[in-house]
Amino acid sequence: MADLANLTVIDHPLIRHKVRLLRAKTTEKKLFCELVDEIAMLMAYEVTRDLEEEPAVVETPLERTTGHRVVGERIVLVPILRAGLGLVEGVLRLIPTARVGHVGMSRDEESLEPIEYYFKVPDAPDVRRFIVLDPMLATGGSAVASIAGLKRRGAKSISFMCLVATPQGVGAIAREHPDVPIFAAALDRELNADGYIVPGLGDAGDRLFGTT
Ligand code: PRP
Ligand code: URA
Repeated sequence: MADLANLTVIDHPLIRHKVRLLRAKTTEKKLFCELVDEIAMLMAYEVTRDLEEEPAVVETPLERTTGHRVVGERIVLVPILRAGLGLVEGVLRLIPTARVGHVGMSRDEESLEPIEYYFKVPDAPDVRRFIVLDPMLATGGSAVASIAGLKRRGAKSISFMCLVATPQGVGAIAREHPDVPIFAAALDRELNADGYIVPGLGDAGDRLFGTT
């Protein structure tokens, strides 16, 4: 039985509604991209619940008071190429000052092993908070390798955000990176023999970019 203790399935009727539409095989590319973007924005609200804040003075029309300021420039979104790109704009709409790094990972179609082909993140990783983005957490290979790559470069604070997760993928992250919280819009039943999530939504990258 997979360890699901690090997983938060974000519990909201709008997210559930949009995930059903995303799954539908009749959903065309334009709507699919819009739904991924909207779900990412809704999820960002929950994923960033514990964001670092600092006091900041503000002049209202009546007087000077102290409010809060999120330390947004320390946040780095890290989409796993390519499908993770679909989640970036939605999160940036809530945190426009976040930086964006990129990790290029593709799954070997036979072995399902991840192959890293690109890695670029901002400097000073040790003081930043990374949110790794990928719509699909299947075997967990791409996520585990991306998180390991960030840690090798000095990252200390990492969360993982996806749309659809499997127990196997969640278990893989929990085993290799027990310090990394995982946020998903849905937890699906299993992987099929080809490494696809079922019921799933198909190949997220192909559906986002129209490459079927
Ligand atoms: C998909 C998906 C994840 C990965 C998940 O990417 O976007 O990155 O598979 O599978 P895993 O958990 O078994 O590693 P894919 O390799 O199809 O590349 P793409 O984003 O370029 O379509
Ligand atoms: N990657 C996808 O895009 N979809 C799956 O179901 C599994 C991995």
